[in-house]
Amino acid sequence: MSIMKLLYFPNNKLRMKAKYIKNINNDIKLLGKNMLKTMYFYNGIGLAATQLGINKRIIVIDISINKNNPIILINPEIIKFNKLKIKSKEGCLSIPLKQKYSILRYKKIKIKAKNLMNENFELEISNLLSFCVQHEIDHLNGILFIDYLSNLKFQRIYDKMYKLNKKIIFLKKHNYIK
Ligand code: NI
Repeated sequence: MSIMKLLYFPNNKLRMKAKYIKNINNDIKLLGKNMLKTMYFYNGIGLAATQLGINKRIIVIDISINKNNPIILINPEIIKFNKLKIKSKEGCLSIPLKQKYSILRYKKIKIKAKNLMNENFELEISNLLSFCVQHEIDHLNGILFIDYLSNLKFQRIYDKMYKLNKKIIFLKKHNYIK
């Protein structure tokens, strides 16, 4: 298993729309495991394949405190939602700024997906887990949580990330980070 390279905003590949996975073969199983390892390495609670430049509909999530409850969702889809939206304070591994930003998300959703054993299942989820799944499904559609912010806030984040990307390029070049 290996830690994979993360893409950072405003990399254009983060805007790709990921394709449905038809075959859950060994490559997909390995990808799922590597995605989990990468998410834990970066201390994230969710990761979409899009953030690794991989054009496939697979996301991983773990919102547990002890990081021992991994969830891998293949072709996840929201099939039902309660209209009520509430505030969700979010960050993103592809936008690694200290500050978190509040946006609105559905409080409660019902999703369907496949697991690595190719089994279909449905799940009713709410609050943090629901926000997290919405955030990651957005990634698969090329949407970032900052798209929901005002133009002004978006621009500020863009400027911060412009500076940070320069730093990241420097750190990568000198092997301080992957
Ligand atoms: Ni994200």
